[in-house]
Amino acid sequence: MTSTPSGLTTLLVTGGAGFIGANFVLQALAEGKKVINLDKLTYAGNLDTLASVHDNPRHVFVQGDIGDRALVGKLLTDYRPDAVVNFAAESHVDRSIDGPAAFVETNVVGTLGLLECARDYWRSLDTSAASAFRFLHVSTDEVYGSLGDDGKFTEETAYAPNSPYSASKAASDHLVRAFHHTYGLPTLTTNCSNNYGPFQFPEKLIPLVIQKALAGEPLPIYGDGLNIRDWLYVGDHCSAIARVLTAGRVGETYNVGGNAEQQNITVVKTICTLLDQRLPLADGRKRESLITYVKDRPGHDRRYAIDASKLQRELGWAPSQTFESGMAQTVDWYLENQAWTQRVLDGSYRMERLGT
Ligand SMILES: NC(=O)c1ccc[n+]([C@@H]2O[C@H](COP(=O)([O-])OP(=O)(O)OC[C@H]3O[C@@H](n4cnc5c(N)ncnc54)[C@H](O)[C@@H]3O)[C@@H](O)[C@H]2O)c1
Repeated sequence: MTSTPSGLTTLLVTGGAGFIGANFVLQALAEGKKVINLDKLTYAGNLDTLASVHDNPRHVFVQGDIGDRALVGKLLTDYRPDAVVNFAAESHVDRSIDGPAAFVETNVVGTLGLLECARDYWRSLDTSAASAFRFLHVSTDEVYGSLGDDGKFTEETAYAPNSPYSASKAASDHLVRAFHHTYGLPTLTTNCSNNYGPFQFPEKLIPLVIQKALAGEPLPIYGDGLNIRDWLYVGDHCSAIARVLTAGRVGETYNVGGNAEQQNITVVKTICTLLDQRLPLADGRKRESLITYVKDRPGHDRRYAIDASKLQRELGWAPSQTFESGMAQTVDWYLENQAWTQRVLDGSYRMERLGT
């Protein structure tokens, strides 16, 4: 990627008030980039996460929908970004079981609107700016479906999405691919495994369990707890996206993963141990005694595992955190940032079970 005449790279980041998007925005600003941050502020968007960059002149926050063509078109022509990085999505599988329509609206129809605006803007650029422009679409390993005991998802694995969430993400990935093949739009797609780390909305497994374990409440485990996810620290996901953005081959997809397959029950027990070491329960109970098995999620995929060797081989990216170091940092972050979590919980979400 080239940068603007001032030497500054300008990014239009969508969904930059959500978990991963905000971590990416904070990282990009720290690296000196200018960020136009377009976010609808759904229940998952949180401006508290961006409080530290509220007055940063290189951060422009705009509340709006990726499917609003007039707004997106204006942002592109006003700010002339070098790249669009699309994080905006409905992202929670359980919510997609309760109400799939919102997932199609944002993840499919919204992404289509964003792609059309990006294509029209890209066509208006001069040759050198057009060849440097990138549209990076952030997606998930869930598009590949579920694995048995062996094997890993590669970029060649056939798509087989099982939930309304993963089906909507798969559809958006196909649209991105089609915009490259049909119009020549310089696209990149990343498919990442489960993320964890600072600023994650406490409906997702790791922050939910941390909150409940802190409060000494039952820790719900879906099914037998043996479902496997390949966990990646969010900062490592952000560094992978930055690497793909600057060095990825146009039109390609890259799998992103941490080589950290863990059963859900192991994840929960790890959190219990870390919290017991840092803040023992007043009554002396071990937090593992709070684990409660609950009815499984309908259609719960058994195992995800990512082969990220293409990203390592071609672009030299590797995660900086192991599961152990990333989990310890994450637990410490939630302990130190209870005010952030409490403000999220004061809103509409009360850690209730969804998607049954
Ligand atoms: N969380 C994970 O483990 C994970 C793993 C792989 C890929 N991903 C993908 O990464 C992206 C970000 O995930 P996340 O966990 O940060 O999600 P999130 O739910 O925390 O954040 C999504 C953000 O998008 C915004 N948004 C929703 N609809 C919008 C719309 N129509 N227009 C503009 N903004 C809108 C929300 O307000 C929110 O700030 C998603 O595309 C997701 O599919 C997530």
